[in-house]
Order: sequence, then structure tokens, then C-alpha cells
Amino acid sequence: MNKKNIVVIEGDGIGPDIVAESIKVLRKIEEISDVKFEFSYYEAGGVAIDKYGHPLPEKTLEACKKADAVILGAVGGPKWDNLAGDQRPEKALLGLRGGLGLYANLRPAILHRQLKDACPLKDEIIGDSLDIMIVRELTSGIYFGERGRNKADKSAYDTMYYNEEEIERILKVGFEISLSRNKKVCVVDKANILESSRLWREVTQRVAKNYPEVECNFLYVDNAAMQLIRNPKQFDVIITENMFGDILSDEASMLTGSIGMLPSASLGGKNALYEPIHGSAPDIAGQNKANPIATILSIAMMLRHSFGMENEAQKVEKAVDAALTAGYRTGDIFSKGMKLVGTKEMGDIIANYIK
Ligand code: IPM
Ligand code: MG
Repeated sequence: MNKKNIVVIEGDGIGPDIVAESIKVLRKIEEISDVKFEFSYYEAGGVAIDKYGHPLPEKTLEACKKADAVILGAVGGPKWDNLAGDQRPEKALLGLRGGLGLYANLRPAILHRQLKDACPLKDEIIGDSLDIMIVRELTSGIYFGERGRNKADKSAYDTMYYNEEEIERILKVGFEISLSRNKKVCVVDKANILESSRLWREVTQRVAKNYPEVECNFLYVDNAAMQLIRNPKQFDVIITENMFGDILSDEASMLTGSIGMLPSASLGGKNALYEPIHGSAPDIAGQNKANPIATILSIAMMLRHSFGMENEAQKVEKAVDAALTAGYRTGDIFSKGMKLVGTKEMGDIIANYIK
């Protein structure tokens, strides 16, 4: 029997709600494959602060390092908002990403045709569907650069640092992905201002030479943010640094109807981490209201990228599609005439469609 050890980090807010539904889906995959999943639960984020006084306990990181893959719900909440920067729940995410060497964050923004009504853009802009892959650098840039405060002049600073190796490896991931898509890469930066962006451009020009069949262009991030709304169909693969990727992926998620739809895979290390791109939504935590689809689609990415189970990955994606086609909607993607369901019902329905 083929056994996979998965570390499960539910985190805070709606984290436990949505993660439970992804486990349901994996249990269903066990029924239709010869793979068995062993789940071990560890804490990170606000719950870990409350229990151990640290957002990312050593034993959580150690367990993740040994796992075949990691599922994460969401971290953070108002309760921990006043803690110092390095003690906040979000620090757990950075610790995991950095600690596991997960420099490549794939965030596919796909608009399901059934959710066209939930997308705020006009039909003539969005067409029938939308499929953009955002490749976000995840372990460097301003998130990991030196930061601090200077009491003398009452100032604060954060540093956007990149070296060539960090830029090159994420570009390669993006260019490789584009080969199996429309062979179109857009590198988003702020090269009219930032020196680190100018280095990104130099390295891109070098890397692009190895991919002559891929069309590559550059956009400044402000323009890219505008173009995502004006003409999102021009994009296939967007490759960008850490903070720009954070911002643009939230923006792109609205094109798909709801931030509750966007999954992610963080790759590049010995194993990988899978999480929805949304936050912990404390206002609806534990109320059976959250949309579990982003997490379930992250599970599909896990099957594909960590376990080479492409067939099963597609089954999960098709099951999500079938649930949407049948008219089931959580509150965030609800429109008139559809069937409003809760987190658990949505999980059950999707799991049942997996055959
Ligand atoms: C994300 C989130 C995180 C980030 C936060 C919670 C630290 O917004 O995964 O997009 O900024 O990377
Ligand atoms: Mg974000």
C-alpha cells in the first residue's frame, strides 16, 4: 500500500472549517485509489501563540519537514493583532515557507463559467472563462528582507532584497509552467523605480533565451493591476516578486468570483505546502459559512504536484465543477436561483461527486 504522511495545520478562524472538508475529499480519494493518507495535526498561528507562546512551534516545523505534504487552513485574527511583528500569527506562514524552502507559489485564478454572475466584470471583458496562473516568489523580497525601527529619527524600514539565484529559480518555474499552457509569460515589476526590479529584468532576459518558444513581456505592477481589470484575458502566466504577487493574487481572485475559490501550492523544497490564498475570516468562523472550495482545489494541487496523482487531481477538480453546475453555492458565490449551502454540505456534495 502506498502511504502518504500529511501534516495538517488548521490554524485560526475558518481554518478548521475548511480543512475538515479537504480531509473528506482525501478520504474519498482513498476509496478510489490505492493510496492511504495518514494525517497528523499540528498547531501554528494564533492557536499556537495561545498554547505555546509562539506562532510556529519547533515541533510543527519539524513535523512539516518530515511530512510528504502539508495542508494549511488560515492563520490570524483580531485577538492577535496587537502583538509585535515577529510574534504575530502570520509569522508562522513565513516561518513555514522559509523553513521548508518553498520559494515557488502557484496561484491559479480560474473563473468557472458557472460563476460568471459572481464576477464583477462585464461579459465582454471576461468572455466565457478565465485562466491565469500567478507564480509568486515566496521566500525573499520585502517579506524576508531586513526590517526595523530607528528610535532616533522615529523611522521604520523594510528592505526588498533579491539575489540573482532567487530570481532565476522562480523564473524557471514560471517559464516551465508556461510550456504546458499558452507559452506566454508576463513578468511584473516596478523597474522604473526599484533596483531589485531592474535585476529581475536582467535575469529574465537571460532566462528567456532558454525558452525561445515562450512570448515574454514586462509590466509595471501598477499597470498590471489595471490591466487585470481592463483586459484580464491578455495574461497567461504572471511571474512576480513576493509582495506584488500577494496583492495581484487577491485582485485576480475577484475575477474568479470570490477569494474563496483560489487555491495555492507552495513548491521548491523537499515537500510542499497547500493552502487557500484567503485569510482566516474570523467573522464567520465556526458558523458553517466559509467556502471550502479554495482548500479543496488546493488538495487537487497536492495530488498533482506532490503525489503525481494527475488522474485523481482532475477528479477533484471535476467534482468541484459538477457541484457548481448543479447550482450549489456558499454565501460568497451565491446568486439568485442557486442553492445556498454551508461549508459542510459543500464538502459532502463535492466528495460525493468524486467517482
Ligand atoms: C497570503 C496571505 C499572507 C501573505 C499573509 C497572511 C501573511 O495574504 O498568503 O497571500 O501575505 O503572504
Ligand atoms: Mg495575500
